[in-house]
Amino acid sequence: LYVVVLAGGISHERDVSLRSGRRVADALIAAGHRVELRDPDAGLLPFLAERRPDVVFPALHGSSGEDGSLLELLAALGVPTVGSSGAAARRAWSKPVASSIVAGAGIAVPESIVLSHEAFRELGAASVLRVVRQALEGDLVVKPGSGGSAQGVTIVGDPNDLPRAMVDAFTYADVAVVERRIVGSEIAIAVIDSGDGPRALTAVEIEPTDGVYSFQARYNAGETTFYAPCRLDEAAVQAVTDAAVLAHETLGLRDLSRVDFIVDGSGRPWFLEANVLPGLTETSLVPLAIEASDTDAPTVYDALVRAALA
Ligand code: DAL
Ligand code: MG
Repeated sequence: LYVVVLAGGISHERDVSLRSGRRVADALIAAGHRVELRDPDAGLLPFLAERRPDVVFPALHGSSGEDGSLLELLAALGVPTVGSSGAAARRAWSKPVASSIVAGAGIAVPESIVLSHEAFRELGAASVLRVVRQALEGDLVVKPGSGGSAQGVTIVGDPNDLPRAMVDAFTYADVAVVERRIVGSEIAIAVIDSGDGPRALTAVEIEPTDGVYSFQARYNAGETTFYAPCRLDEAAVQAVTDAAVLAHETLGLRDLSRVDFIVDGSGRPWFLEANVLPGLTETSLVPLAIEASDTDAPTVYDALVRAALA
């Protein structure tokens, strides 16, 4: 098949996307497809109209692809595309929206407060601090309401650091989420559906060398220790795997996602987020999960491409 892999874009995660795209293209070439890598710039629509690829594989992270706008455009063009619909992507892209939908399905979600930049300015740092302290106990995690690769995410131990962390989050999104930090194992579950229903790959456990799975720790080899399979007991693995598939289904995702959790000491999985176009770079979690699941990237991506056509 003739497959166009979209990579790059104008989001904060452009460089990550270029690395994902290269890896996907290599895997699809190895699977025997004719592959072209393409940046989704202003020339994209004429390009697609002229070349008419059989399938588009978006390896775009951040607002470029995960906010759903480009995916909706591809759907309007009638190009078979790997991955979730634009509407589903938009649901997952907003962390507050995704969390409330997933909570509705009975999955545990950390207690949180969501605040817009405007409200933050109007209330002032002191009031915000008071409100947060009343609602949430212990360490906090501050993150942009949308975004990826841990950009703009801060773990706050000292409440006095909260305003700073929020201002940081507002550089990535108009809304910030302040949530209670759940202590436990960080677990990522890749969910794949190439036509026979969603199934979870081997659970991957993340142990960053300096304790935080930051942008640095994500994209530099050796800065994180991964365990695939993870070190949880059988019941906890089952619980987090079931929760991932349920979250994928509840959000209406398709083909491929990566759902991230913290599993606490009692084995309970807490939903953090769902990624509709998860990182596929050489240090990313989904490729690791694929390897640990006794399959390989050419096989999995080939199946996704074929399913997009079906
Ligand atoms: N947002 C990055 C690419 C990830 O989810 O892996
Ligand atoms: Mg993410």
